[in-house]
Amino acid sequence: MKYPNSGSKSAALFKRAQSVLTDGGSRSTIRIAPYSIYVRSAQGKYVTDVDGNRLMDFNNNYTAMLHGHAHPEIIAAATEQITRGTGYSFGSEAEYALADLLCGRVDNFDKIRFMNSGTEAVMKAIKAARAYTGRPKIAKCENAYHGSYDFAEVSLGVEPTRLADGDPLSRAYAHGTPQGVLDNVIVIPHDDPEAARRILDEHAEDLAAVLVDPIGLGMARIPHTDEFLNQVQEFCDSSGALFIADEVVSFRAGLAGLQGERGLRPHLTTLGKIIGGGFPVGAVAGSADVMSVFEAGEGRAKLPHGGTYNANPVSMAAGFAAMNMMNAEAFDDLNALGDAFRQGCREVLALTDAEGGVQGQYSIFSITFNEPELKDDAARGAVYRSSGMHRYMVQHGYWMSPGMLGVCSTVMDRKDVDAFCETLKAGIDTIRDECSNAA
Ligand SMILES: Cc1ncc(COP(=O)(O)O)c(C=O)c1O
Repeated sequence: MKYPNSGSKSAALFKRAQSVLTDGGSRSTIRIAPYSIYVRSAQGKYVTDVDGNRLMDFNNNYTAMLHGHAHPEIIAAATEQITRGTGYSFGSEAEYALADLLCGRVDNFDKIRFMNSGTEAVMKAIKAARAYTGRPKIAKCENAYHGSYDFAEVSLGVEPTRLADGDPLSRAYAHGTPQGVLDNVIVIPHDDPEAARRILDEHAEDLAAVLVDPIGLGMARIPHTDEFLNQVQEFCDSSGALFIADEVVSFRAGLAGLQGERGLRPHLTTLGKIIGGGFPVGAVAGSADVMSVFEAGEGRAKLPHGGTYNANPVSMAAGFAAMNMMNAEAFDDLNALGDAFRQGCREVLALTDAEGGVQGQYSIFSITFNEPELKDDAARGAVYRSSGMHRYMVQHGYWMSPGMLGVCSTVMDRKDVDAFCETLKAGIDTIRDECSNAA
């Protein structure tokens, strides 16, 4: 694929789309420079753009497409539901089936409530924690992404605070963030469990919840240590603040999510992505006691929660099909594929003597290059510029997320690892040759 290509249909569509869509689209996290690529169809491991270029999709809609695109079983379940209606103001059997499946798998889920996105799940979990505890504040890690809700995006995209200079401050991500939001979010460092605990203790009486993505920062690139997670768990168990595990991404780690893998006992969990089988979804799950804030009983719930598309039956049916295809072994296989990609990438870096490293956990991997010509150009919080190895991989049929992040799906296999690694190696050699020829 030629990218960038000013003569391409994508480039032309990007130009036209900018007149009616902000930045030519609706999602800041997919905007790339010089122009966004527009996709016409997706099947299995591949997406095909409007120019007919086929790319192996290592983004998988930012981890949502556990089984790749248009998986026949998911399409069958969704289609069957569509013929019976796409939304109504009643509960559905599909909603019960998915709830029953998820609550049956995770010890910490007595009850669950569905909504439409991970962002919404985080919003509702924060509100549920406030309703349950009667306290106003939440704590979160500096630079941890939890979707696009005011409280959840405080201190995102900032230069990490050096603790020697003081504790992290609550800083606005979006212009116009009210001071009241900043005053009610306590920011903790992810890499210093003792400092995190000291800061949490200082605010213990006001904290409704500590919101943590247990897989770490940067979509699994920077894991949390056991010490950090234990401090959060202990603090929440002793202070009355709720531990909200944001498992929107990390739920792909195992049958009971990352909390199952690492023995966590969150009071509330937020879910999204994989549990919708590729359709819009979000969920909050937790103990019967905490989840009772959503229950009206004979009066009004502590936390009333409407939503036209909550538990949309198409998402529920597709989500059930997607999750029902997974058992413990299937998660192990997927994670082993992640290991194989990480191992393969490490071997390529060693073979080429490239300066960099390989990160990631479970079914997510990433490659960081320190050599300027191989690096992609992703200024913190700014539009991502495809360059270096990222651009080479796109040009040779691989769609990676910014920062060379790869997300495996169940339709990928070991042959894909070999082919990917060959392309990676060829890319490093080619870019270096081009640079030395130009010098
Ligand atoms: C950890 C985490 N929480 C929440 C969200 C928000 O989910 P959504 O994009 O479905 O709103 C994301 C999205 O990537 C996420 O990574």
